[in-house]
Amino acid sequence: MISLIGVGRVGITAAFHLMLMELDDLMLIDIVEGLPQGHALDLKHAIGTLGLSIDVNGSNDYSSIEGSRIIIVTAGLPRKAGMTREDLALQNARIMSDIAENIKRYAPDSIVILTTNPVDAMAYVMYKKLGFERERVIGYGWLDTGRYRYYLSKALGVSPSEISAFVIGMHGEKMLPLDRLSTFSGVPINELISRDLLENIKNETVKAGAKIIEQRGFSSNYGPAVGLALMSKWIYNDSKSLCVGSVYLDGEYGYKDVMANVPIILGSKGAEKIIELPLNDDEKKLFGESVKAVKDLIDSIPRDLYG
Ligand code: 2OP
Repeated sequence: MISLIGVGRVGITAAFHLMLMELDDLMLIDIVEGLPQGHALDLKHAIGTLGLSIDVNGSNDYSSIEGSRIIIVTAGLPRKAGMTREDLALQNARIMSDIAENIKRYAPDSIVILTTNPVDAMAYVMYKKLGFERERVIGYGWLDTGRYRYYLSKALGVSPSEISAFVIGMHGEKMLPLDRLSTFSGVPINELISRDLLENIKNETVKAGAKIIEQRGFSSNYGPAVGLALMSKWIYNDSKSLCVGSVYLDGEYGYKDVMANVPIILGSKGAEKIIELPLNDDEKKLFGESVKAVKDLIDSIPRDLYG
């Protein structure tokens, strides 16, 4: 079973995509009474129409996640006008802490992937509170790489599937799109795209999340949802595929006791490997600034919420 905790736009879109993939039964959890049940009923009818061989259920009770192999956490508050990143971190850390207690109690063998913002700091709280092996707690930061890959592919006029790209570090303004280590057919994209255009692409990638909110009044859901579903598929299939995720660093890239996005290999155990890219001095410096921004946020959260 795959459980989705929080069925706002991201959670329910991920559930819809997972349903189409038919990996396993789904359990929708939310604190709003009737919401997960109503979504589940709607999806059940889609299952009937498509003739799929899974089922979807909804519950307000955390005990329903028992036996889950993967838990996708999207619950939490969105950032509202006038709210600092630290305010958001504090409020959502309380929610993460409570969810972690329940995951520990009902699904101690699960792999947890979360999107709640600020995601790297929230993944840290979840990891610390759960006490799981680090392979089993992943913050979702692949979206930035998806965005970068999209813009690069359009600049080159090729399919995004032909581009191998990386955006590492924090999911936030200090994210680090790596043009030197992103390639089209093995050729670094900074040899194929002009410096000016590359700068525009990086800028668009960094600002993409905010632009969606500005345009339609609420944040992304399709972008994160499809990645969550694909990561689940790779875990179920033990595919050893490469993506980017926010994982606990224990010396990799020279950092310890922090979560940040880095390339990972996904298999049945979760983030089974961390790939250490050969960063040059400039990239190391920018990555360090990005990691520091995550550390500062973590430091703003009272320890008793995760210690
Ligand atoms: C995004 O980047 C808001 O984190 C969300 O779309």
